[in-house]
Amino acid sequence: MDNGGAIILAVDDSPATLEVISRHLTRAGHVVHTCASVEEAASFLDTTHVDLVITDYKMPKSSGLDLIKYVRENLRDTEIMMVTGYPTIAGAVEAIRDGAGEYLAKPFTGEELLGVVSRILDKQTHRRSAHADHQHLNEYGLLGDCPEMLAVYDLIDKASQTSANVFISGESGTGKELVARAVHYGSDRRASAFVPVNCTAIPDTLLESELFGHVKGAFSGAKESRAGFFEIANGGTIFLDEIGDASPNLQAKLLRVMQSKEFCMVGSSRIRTVDTRIIAATHQDLQQLVKQGLFREDLFYRIHVIEIHLPPLAARGQDILAMVNHFLKKFSQDAGRPAPCLTDEALNSLYQYSWPGNVRELENLIQRLVVIGDGPSIDVTDLPEAMRFSLNRNSFGNKTLAEVEAEHIRHVLAQSRDNKTQAAKILGIDRKTLRGKLKRLGLE
Ligand SMILES: Nc1ncnc2c1ncn2[C@@H]1O[C@H](COP(=O)(O)OP(=O)(O)OP(=O)(O)O)[C@@H](O)[C@H]1O
Ligand SMILES: [Mg+2]
Repeated sequence: MDNGGAIILAVDDSPATLEVISRHLTRAGHVVHTCASVEEAASFLDTTHVDLVITDYKMPKSSGLDLIKYVRENLRDTEIMMVTGYPTIAGAVEAIRDGAGEYLAKPFTGEELLGVVSRILDKQTHRRSAHADHQHLNEYGLLGDCPEMLAVYDLIDKASQTSANVFISGESGTGKELVARAVHYGSDRRASAFVPVNCTAIPDTLLESELFGHVKGAFSGAKESRAGFFEIANGGTIFLDEIGDASPNLQAKLLRVMQSKEFCMVGSSRIRTVDTRIIAATHQDLQQLVKQGLFREDLFYRIHVIEIHLPPLAARGQDILAMVNHFLKKFSQDAGRPAPCLTDEALNSLYQYSWPGNVRELENLIQRLVVIGDGPSIDVTDLPEAMRFSLNRNSFGNKTLAEVEAEHIRHVLAQSRDNKTQAAKILGIDRKTLRGKLKRLGLE
């Protein structure tokens, strides 16, 4: 990656070191400013944008650590690198804890300096472009700020702070996998692996070996030994997706490893211990499966310590509009052209639609509209038949308030799939009031 042209500030009390740093980096095409103290650097940073600060560790007044702290607290987009003649372990640990990603010991060669600097700038470029792609997503990598989603974020925070098992429920396409990732990356396990396992997709014959690995020669075809999912996720998180589809055999094996945290690789009798956080998800009603005898109750209680429920998209109110805008921008950017806008009627239709496929359906729809559309705007007629909202504003024209109310209640009920609690929430009334209205309208 070409990272020439970065703006770099070097801070050191030794003019000789500043001169060396400055010479190498300028030759590599960067713009280099220099300061002789932390205080001078802080006031420079107040007025000038800098991509990277390279600071000495030990200086007469404040130390490099103070500068790191200052940058971390005040400048989100500036990287930091520490240079020191005292490469003590303690100093390094402290620097890394304070957010100095990289560390270079004196004396260094020009090549070493340029190597570290270009590694930092590469990372920064990556982060910046990732940020541009996801500029609307929040810190959880999700969109939406309706009350139901705020409650979800709250649970993600709580779950991140523990290693308790998490169960994520919600219809298909509501973002269960994204939430699982948010829990993992928000936790102190983030440096280890997040391992998604689709419980539907593992054939029973390969089960043991996929989950726990096998040693060389364990069965014909086992030419090499191979780690299983649990071992790969050691220190990290295993995500058991579609747990409702787990075969009885898989359920039994999962239960055993959850109880003991131990397993043996296929073909070996050596007991291995793992520290793996388990997050499970399904779009099915797991409690119902337990009642029907299709899912083990003991396993259900094991995985069901913290439950995070994702509401259907149709119950997220204005979030739909934020998502439409986000996906319009995203897919237009991918296609390299300006984002089309939606007419009010089209937006209204999307807002009223019941979204059985939830966010995934919305995402796919917008992608399709962007790819096939060629005009600057998208109208109702561009939408699939099922989404065209019949009750457009003009048709309110000569209706009574009671008729409009009845129509709207019917619509919201359909949208929440006859879930009265949810419908009442959307309508902003309590269940009892809703029941009264339904009775009067002959809808109950
Ligand atoms: N709140 C959200 N903000 C932005 N994108 C979202 C959100 N929720 C879901 N998505 C997007 O919708 C798609 C479906 O999400 P995801 O795969 O996490 O759903 P799921 O609940 O696991 O679905 P399934 O049950 O079908 O496996 C993904 O492309 C995801 O990026
Ligand atoms: Mg999924």
